[in-house]
Amino acid sequence: MPDNVNLHAAMRAKKDEFYTQLVDIENELKHYREHFRGKTVLCNCDDPRVSNFFHYFSYNFEQLGLKKLITTCYKNQERDLFSQHDSERAILLEYTGDHNGNRIPDPEEIGINYLQGDGDFRSAECIELLKQADIIVTNPPFSLFREYVAQLIEYNKRFVIIGNQNAITNKDFFPLIRDNKVWMGASIHSGDREFGVPDDYPLNAAGWRQDEKGNKFIRVKGVRWFTNLDYKERHEDLILYKNYSLEEYPKYDNYDAINVNKTSDIPMDYYGAMGVPITFMDKYNPEQFEIIGICAGNSRLNKFYGDITYTPHPEDRGGCAVLNGQRVYSRILIRRRRRTIPYTVGDENPLPIAAETDNN
Ligand SMILES: C[S@@+](CC[C@H](N)C(=O)[O-])C[C@H]1O[C@@H](n2cnc3c(N)ncnc32)[C@H](O)[C@@H]1O
Repeated sequence: MPDNVNLHAAMRAKKDEFYTQLVDIENELKHYREHFRGKTVLCNCDDPRVSNFFHYFSYNFEQLGLKKLITTCYKNQERDLFSQHDSERAILLEYTGDHNGNRIPDPEEIGINYLQGDGDFRSAECIELLKQADIIVTNPPFSLFREYVAQLIEYNKRFVIIGNQNAITNKDFFPLIRDNKVWMGASIHSGDREFGVPDDYPLNAAGWRQDEKGNKFIRVKGVRWFTNLDYKERHEDLILYKNYSLEEYPKYDNYDAINVNKTSDIPMDYYGAMGVPITFMDKYNPEQFEIIGICAGNSRLNKFYGDITYTPHPEDRGGCAVLNGQRVYSRILIRRRRRTIPYTVGDENPLPIAAETDNN
């Protein structure tokens, strides 16, 4: 029996009811404080009665200097229950801060209204709320993750959201990562995280627990924050210490790139194309490396190998990297930048403009 519930299994089962823990929200959002001043925040997959995103922003409203908090949920109306989807009409909640001076969001300060429809983030009324918002922060339904992100990009929104690291290899999502339009958040780079689940959630894996009040929790692997808000740590160089050698870093059979099995093994003296595990993204500094493409099942079809020479191989299943006749796990194709460009956190455009990226 696995120790963790796999997020893919959750997607297949369309079990979208996973509730983010307050501690995980706090640990991530402390990296973006300066971005929130004067801003309208939208949590659009959040039943305010159970969402810790709503809790975090309402209790930290003054400290963050927010202008407005808008929260909408999907279908649910039953107070004090996890989202049961038992009503078609969802609620809309708007909070503009503490007015009676007790620094607590009281019920009379929270404006509760009904939405016309079911609160689907794609509905016209929810899109109107999206347009009002500056920053969207939530854990969207896993089964609709791609659509959810596509909408944020379409409306040119800033966001901090939770998803699974495997999203990186998706053909619609990868170009955003490659082009530095989305990157990994600051706080989760390994391991698993605990999420609340509804009372009727089928628990068949080890690692779930119930607290003293009977609330159920499961641990989920591969969770990552994704954002397009900048933060200091993503501009720190990865310290490299290994030297390149032909023996240790062979080239793939089908890509003109060397294979690097571990991000920490990236050679410090190699400026050509390298294939690295997708967990490289946790250490990615856009001033230090350039992302060229990806070697995964869909890379041939979508030409996700940039300017690298690629020769189809009978074993590559549409573009996976092949080494000595054996397919390897998904690889991101990267290149070291020869020099780094100074960068200040808070710049509107965090991307280096013209770094040299000569090949060997
Ligand atoms: C992974 S859960 C996270 C809930 C909450 N954001 C949190 O982190 O605690 C995703 C939520 O999205 C809701 N949801 C599902 N489909 C939706 C849709 N089409 N539009 C908006 N919300 C949806 C689900 O009811 C579920 O509560």
